[in-house]
Amino acid sequence: MSPSPRVVAIDGAAGSGKSTLARSLAAALGLPYVNTGLMYRALAAAALREATPPDDDQALVRLARGLRFIVRVEPPGELEVEGYDSSELTSVEVESTVSVVASHDVVRAYMRREQRELGNRHGAVMEGRDIASVVFTDAPVKLYLQAPADLRAHRRAIERSSGQGSDVAAALGRRDERDARTTPHEPAPGAVVIDTSELDPQRTLAVAIEAVRELAPEMLGSGPTASGTST
Ligand code: DC
Repeated sequence: MSPSPRVVAIDGAAGSGKSTLARSLAAALGLPYVNTGLMYRALAAAALREATPPDDDQALVRLARGLRFIVRVEPPGELEVEGYDSSELTSVEVESTVSVVASHDVVRAYMRREQRELGNRHGAVMEGRDIASVVFTDAPVKLYLQAPADLRAHRRAIERSSGQGSDVAAALGRRDERDARTTPHEPAPGAVVIDTSELDPQRTLAVAIEAVRELAPEMLGSGPTASGTST
């Protein structure tokens, strides 16, 4: 039997708190942080740059092959996509096409191979929509974050600090609906469900670290989290 990958898989809908948790958990465990949403966002941005229609799956795979995904491991860093910055990856144009770009099976197959390679090579705290359910079904720790739609929209509006809250809520609702057709908003078998509606980021991190301690204590190593975390 091959050993489990050193991967914590985190899934959840937009605005559920995954990125905040994944980044802080990665720092606590000394692992790279891989936000797989950025990979689909970069592909949507590439398609916009090249005027590739978001429903042309073969052309999208060709574009995906040209993307360079970089993760620094010493010290552990965050996934970056060469040549794409966060303002482009979070633009309104990208947000309105990314769900379509991410809906194609051939695109997802390509991205999943890249994600497996990144996680197997370096270990990772990896977040997305299908990480525990498809990409790393053998991850020793699987987490699923959930929160009500209105709270997720509120968080997204604060994060983006632009536009009316109601615009953000409407855009998020449309994206949610399209995303859910591709990857159902439900926990993978064996995932620990964390409802973040009543939890601040510190408390969410503490709950996640408890899950790691219970399911894969070896991942805590001898770092600052090894002997407990204050909540
Ligand atoms: O997590 P996010 O909002 O940055 O994700 C951007 C888009 O990519 C979102 O519309 C869903 C899609 N996505 C996906 O289909 N599978 C993943 N593993 C990650 C993101």
